Amino acid sequence: MAGVNGRSSNGANGPGPGGHYAHIVGWGMAVPDRVLSNAELSRIVDTTDEWIVSRTGIRERRIAGPKDTTASLAIRAAQQALEVAGVSPAELDLIIVATSTPEHVFPATACLVQDALGAPECGAFDLSAACSGFIYGLGMGSQAIRSGSLETVLVIGSETLSRIVNWKDRGTCILFGDGAGAFVLQRRDTPGGVLASLMRSDGSGGNLLAVPAGGSRMPASFDTVRDGLHAIEMNGREVFRFATRVMASACREVAQQAGLSMDEIDMIVPHQANLRIIEAAARGLGLPHDKFIINLDRYGNTSTASIPIAVCEAVADGRIRPNDNLLLVGFGGGLTWGATAIQWAVEAPPELSTWEHLRRQSVYQFAKVRSVMRRGLRQLEGVIWGAQTPEGGKEPPHRKEGEGKG
Ligand code: ACO
Repeated sequence: MAGVNGRSSNGANGPGPGGHYAHIVGWGMAVPDRVLSNAELSRIVDTTDEWIVSRTGIRERRIAGPKDTTASLAIRAAQQALEVAGVSPAELDLIIVATSTPEHVFPATACLVQDALGAPECGAFDLSAACSGFIYGLGMGSQAIRSGSLETVLVIGSETLSRIVNWKDRGTCILFGDGAGAFVLQRRDTPGGVLASLMRSDGSGGNLLAVPAGGSRMPASFDTVRDGLHAIEMNGREVFRFATRVMASACREVAQQAGLSMDEIDMIVPHQANLRIIEAAARGLGLPHDKFIINLDRYGNTSTASIPIAVCEAVADGRIRPNDNLLLVGFGGGLTWGATAIQWAVEAPPELSTWEHLRRQSVYQFAKVRSVMRRGLRQLEGVIWGAQTPEGGKEPPHRKEGEGKG
């Protein structure tokens, strides 16, 4: 289907080519226990609670403890989402972890999640689109389901941004927080779920929000560490201008693709970066403030996790109800932006029985044992078979420096 701007769109208000719909059947979130208030921040950098609240709306954020990592938060959020969905890890076809703070360059954080959940050999990859990553992941996952190629997809946004923040830069360290949110998407033949999604980028603005070092252009070195080049650098004013421009247009575009007028939208869940950006989007769309789900006052900007965390809280307190039409809209470094139109079609299920809860915990304990056994088996195979090549021959000896050249 052609999008409103002539480019191909990533969805439409109907079944996919295979006659399927991609429903959000489970949702979960995890945040670290440690709360960092504006008052505490004002003892670290030259700022005040009054400045932060009036310029951003943020009052406090969560900060990862020594044992929290991007993977551990992602796993907690995923387990909760699977519980809500009543889906077992064995049913997962694909795990997408959208993150700007992966556990490693590789392996992908998604693979660590796959292993911890005990999702047997399902596909798993990380998605890098900065704060728009969760919207991109929802688009990719729902399209795979609607096309009929996959049945169940877990999409996670997880971040430990506190680990890449420059705690001396008052222009950025006040903004970010840590957390994770997850959705389970599943194939259904009844209408609803993800109706349309769009993904956009403009790499000419890549310099406006970046972590300069640690990649192949500027590998980690003594100098990069000394100069603080592994932390977030941002041109706040330019990012602000970009965000206010794209939020409203992305909402309009995705609603149109889904065949919905703005009057038919019940709730908008925006990326939780700055209250003033959300207010500008509300003005641009001519919508009242109370149509926007906002929780940035308590979590700050958790990047890819901000939208699913806001959805989880809004479902829990009844602001999102079955049959509501929702728009999720995000923007971030890259520059990237995107939006998703959803018909929220699933009732929150009753709480799990203690027995079912225990059964699920034992599945995760078994996954740990299985992981250790697999590692052990791999080592044993190495000892038994040595350095054999797949063809059965011994690996050729490594070429020495200068040998066989010219
Ligand atoms: N406390 C006190 N003063 C401050 C602080 C602070 N924490 N930070 C900046 N200031 C000062 C500046 O030094 C400047 O002082 P000066 O006029 O003497 O030079 C003054 O406040 C105004 O600075 P601005 O940068 O113009 O402030 P602005 O109103 O634009 O607010 C902010 C800054 C909050 C960063 C805003 O620009 C913003 O939110 N931008 C968008 C950022 C964003 O959303 N980033 C995330 C994108 S998503 C992702 O992918 C990660």
